[in-house]
Amino acid sequence: MNNTFKEILSNRRSVRMYTGEAVPAEALDLVVRTGLMTPRGRNLPSVELIVVKDKAALEFLSECRPHGPGMLAGADAAVIVLGNSAVSDVWTEDCCASMTAMHLMADSLGLGSCWVQIRGRESKLEGKTAEDVCREFFGIPENYRMEAVLSIGMPKLKNEPKSFDDVDLSMIHTERF
Ligand SMILES: Cc1cc2nc3c(=O)[nH]c(=O)nc-3n(C[C@H](O)[C@H](O)[C@H](O)COP(=O)(O)O)c2cc1C
Repeated sequence: MNNTFKEILSNRRSVRMYTGEAVPAEALDLVVRTGLMTPRGRNLPSVELIVVKDKAALEFLSECRPHGPGMLAGADAAVIVLGNSAVSDVWTEDCCASMTAMHLMADSLGLGSCWVQIRGRESKLEGKTAEDVCREFFGIPENYRMEAVLSIGMPKLKNEPKSFDDVDLSMIHTERF
């Protein structure tokens, strides 16, 4: 288990290969609750989640785009992050705050996870987006937008930690661009 927030940030990596072992239920529960702990524009309840454990549904998600979601076939669980566009105009930002926090919480608990983008991506079916096909499969109402999915499993392969010393300082501007 990582201790400080600095260690959590260093150790967090996208994990796309899983052992196939079950994710402990308490750990998954904590990750999911984390998704509703994050800041929200105007404190509006714009984010809702679908927890997916069913293998056929995970397989479906792994095929909902031509590239990018393949690791979901080997995941033990996924969390679909939905933004209610009827509730808030900053649902995208709210969803991304949830995604980031869940990804970090998963890593800090020793789980492997990866962000899979859905909004703005095409499906394998001509004229249908990844969001369209998932909306149909999961019965997502029209006013809910599907931002992304977090795939979760016990990590098989994880990249090296990142170092704060390796941050590209040319990307940080002081006072003016
Ligand atoms: C908005 C966003 C969308 C992403 N979409 C995908 C995706 O569809 N498939 C995937 O394998 N990784 C995806 N990632 C993970 C990135 O590829 C990953 O964060 C990046 O390569 C840096 O690697 P690291 O997370 O291990 O530091 C996404 C990350 C973000 C923030």
